[in-house]
Amino acid sequence: MGLAPILVSEHAVAWLDRAARAGWGQAPSLLKRYCTHFWRTTVVMHDIQTNVLPVNAHHPDPASIERAAALLRHGELVVFPTETVYGLGADVLQTAAVERIFTAKGRPFSDPLIVHIASEDTLAMLTSSIPPQVRQLADAFWPGPLTLILPARVPGLITAGLETIAVRMPRHPVALALIRALGSPIAAPSANRFMHVSPTTAQHALADLAGRVPLILDSGPCTVGVESTILDLCADVPTILRPGGISLEALRTIVPDVQPPHRRSTTSSNEAPDEKAQKAPGQLLIHYAPAVPTYLFEGAAHAMRTSMLAEVRKRQQQGKHVGVLIADEDLATFQETGAFIYTLGGAPEQIAAHLFAGLRTLEEAGVQVILCRSFGEQGLGLAVRDRLLKAAGGKVVYV
Ligand code: TXA
Ligand code: MG
Repeated sequence: MGLAPILVSEHAVAWLDRAARAGWGQAPSLLKRYCTHFWRTTVVMHDIQTNVLPVNAHHPDPASIERAAALLRHGELVVFPTETVYGLGADVLQTAAVERIFTAKGRPFSDPLIVHIASEDTLAMLTSSIPPQVRQLADAFWPGPLTLILPARVPGLITAGLETIAVRMPRHPVALALIRALGSPIAAPSANRFMHVSPTTAQHALADLAGRVPLILDSGPCTVGVESTILDLCADVPTILRPGGISLEALRTIVPDVQPPHRRSTTSSNEAPDEKAQKAPGQLLIHYAPAVPTYLFEGAAHAMRTSMLAEVRKRQQQGKHVGVLIADEDLATFQETGAFIYTLGGAPEQIAAHLFAGLRTLEEAGVQVILCRSFGEQGLGLAVRDRLLKAAGGKVVYV
């Protein structure tokens, strides 16, 4: 549990990453996988005290924001709320601080970060050119849960060596106040450990990152609840890479030819997560997985309920503690079963807002299997389905 082996392995991973990007062949990538594995599984190095500071979501207290900004200025990490999920922030201009994000999350350096800005003027500093659709999209959806993939001015650690950069202007008053107080953009992934469910409360972030960050700003639950929509404006046709808080339908009112995300295959493969991450950053099928095996049921509502109920009974007969993730309308079916029930609500916005809390609640309740129904794909439903598929790691039961 010493510090030295960690520092060695972290630097080795960073160096090998650079070597791999420079095209030095297979050896670095194999070694990197070994080092990343060693680094993730062997050591818990962090013993920083993590303070949780309540901050009013609508009128953030300037002293609290300044305390967080001062930490960022000193190259430290701060967890802060956004309207989508909590972010794990570092000053974009400090490479050592940005490296710390990857260490704290246990995230491979091949997975690029989103840069959070508070003014469109900052785009010039981050991008080499600004595609024509940016102005209209920004007018319609910024500040808000839309991330744009743009040509990067300087590829680097933040872009994982890619020539594109992900930029978003969050609308949460605390996030905006923090970026303004720091005076530079904030690089921030979701504030969860790599491959775990994204955090929609400060407590979720604390559960994953206690001892790894000095400060978590707590402004209560995030209102959107799924991450931002990522729209690639560097593709031939604007294409959604990750559905999220701004729906496909809404984007098409501004840019009619926006393409939906590519359908992912639900079959598994033997490829290592790191290899997949390099081909399609952040689009791993098991990206959001809870620690508990999760099954997604797909079909007409009545058929789903019947099939899930049969599965609950079967698993219970095997002595398993079962959790179900359902809508309000399904409650009557499961109420008397003895399964641990989490209801997500009814409208797509409600379901999105409660989804990650639901997965974490079931996990913490100690259920041994999670059975989950699916929902329509309209509006935020597309993002909900994407996260459920990821939570299930492709384990879909068609009924
Ligand atoms: O709502 C959100 O987007 C939250 C909040 C904190 O802003 N952030 C977030 O970040 O979800 P993260 O790192 O968990 O997910 C960002 C995704 C990753 O899958 C990453 O691979 C992808 O964005 N990404 C970043 N830069 C990219 C790029 N240049 N090209 C393609 N994908 C990119
Ligand atoms: Mg994430």
